[in-house]
Amino acid sequence: MKVEVIQGDPLAAAAELAVVGLYEDGSLPGSLAALPGAGGAKGGFKERTALHSGETRVLAIGLGKREEVDAERLRVAAAIAAHEAARLATGTVAWALPESGDDSVAAEALVTGTILGSYRFDRFKGKGAGEDPTPPRLASLTLIGPEGIAAAAAAARVYAEAQNRARDLQSTPANVATPTFLAARAEAIALDHDAVAVEVLGPEQIAAKGMGGLVAVSRGGGEPAKLIVLRYSGGGSGPTLGLVGKGVTFDSGGISLKPGAGMQEMKMDMSGAAAVLEAVAAIAELGLAVDVVAVVPSTENMPSGTAIKPGDVITQYNGVTVEVNNTDAEGRLILADALAYAVELGAERIVDLATLTGAVTIALGSTYAAVIANDDELAAAVARAGEESGELTWRLPLHPEFKALMKGTVADLSNLAAKRKAGTITAAAFLEEFVGETPWAHLDIAGTAWDVGREYTGKDASGFGVRLLVELARHQSA
Ligand code: BES
Ligand code: ZN
Ligand code: ZN
Repeated sequence: MKVEVIQGDPLAAAAELAVVGLYEDGSLPGSLAALPGAGGAKGGFKERTALHSGETRVLAIGLGKREEVDAERLRVAAAIAAHEAARLATGTVAWALPESGDDSVAAEALVTGTILGSYRFDRFKGKGAGEDPTPPRLASLTLIGPEGIAAAAAAARVYAEAQNRARDLQSTPANVATPTFLAARAEAIALDHDAVAVEVLGPEQIAAKGMGGLVAVSRGGGEPAKLIVLRYSGGGSGPTLGLVGKGVTFDSGGISLKPGAGMQEMKMDMSGAAAVLEAVAAIAELGLAVDVVAVVPSTENMPSGTAIKPGDVITQYNGVTVEVNNTDAEGRLILADALAYAVELGAERIVDLATLTGAVTIALGSTYAAVIANDDELAAAVARAGEESGELTWRLPLHPEFKALMKGTVADLSNLAAKRKAGTITAAAFLEEFVGETPWAHLDIAGTAWDVGREYTGKDASGFGVRLLVELARHQSA
């Protein structure tokens, strides 16, 4: 989507739809106040009033009480306008930046809400199905506001479009979005940016390195596993940021087969990978002064005669042995190898994103991702980034008692807790064994990656995590 900033009258922007935000105690700005119906416009949050000025449609969106308006409300308002533009089949929108505490924050929120709100996934519909993604239905957004917001608007365009690409990856069915497909996307990102290098390991190299978790999980399926590494060298002076994303392209559960109902949704078990890959793309496009090493272990989890069986013992990349007591707890097995590998590759603070447990949705719904961390400072940095992006996180505690539940009977660890308690935390306690002393934060995004239902995330793929990671990198580069 084209994003530009101009000064002047919203009606002079030559967009098919002009949008203004209206505070509860406010009134429409100058040229709009005289339009027929303008007096009846309502400022309650999300209230809509449609007006006309000649050829131009005008939409007033209520923002509610002035003191309650923040970036989240503006993202929601912008998404409502984007939906309205789609309903009216208008290709160009102009938004008059509402007065608020911080013009740049407001500009970022409007651009983000518009781009995310106009997202659709229809690559597999109609003639030419399966071809390249269809062009966005909204061609351009013009912000009417001070010149100073141009950089903020441009940055928001970059990361919001990255988030939509992550949503594409999440929604793409597992017969198309295979580990090979994710690796190809990583290679394309490296090709697009001089500062990004890629390395992809295939099944033989993964086995030769002794990444027993990734080998074990991939044994049941027909698709070759990939270990994807992206490095972005932005000339940062801070610690190298390690990003790790779970890339299970389909999670059937393996021999510990999942129930059939809803299983199709398990194409999204690579949402962590999608967020990490597209966040690296956005960080590179923004040219942030940070150094990033991203590691994405990718495989299917399928049942077959060659699949891993409950009770089998494997050896992870760092030499720790694991008893696989439930083949559906596969994410931690591939992440264990990837986390240990990220440390070896020089990651000095690590954030991993994974659709790891159903239990996180019981605890936090689709509103918060769980954060479990071995480092207070990193946990706080993640929380702050999430508050700014609207991708909320809630910290859960690590305690030695949780680790005790992950002891194996014949091996060092079990991938299944001895008791069905605190499933999200015990999964993280397992992961902690593989990061050594490196500051690390794990985000369980099983609840937030899909079906969030906000105006700007929609009802399916949310792309959760892309903007949070970009925000984290921005803070580190500042
Ligand atoms: N991919 C699932 C977790 C998941 C559930 C993601 C729902 C998205 C929506 C994960 O691999 C899994 O199956 N976890 C098990 C772990 C259990 C066997 C210890 C779970 O949560 O049931
Ligand atoms: Zn599973
Ligand atoms: Zn899974």
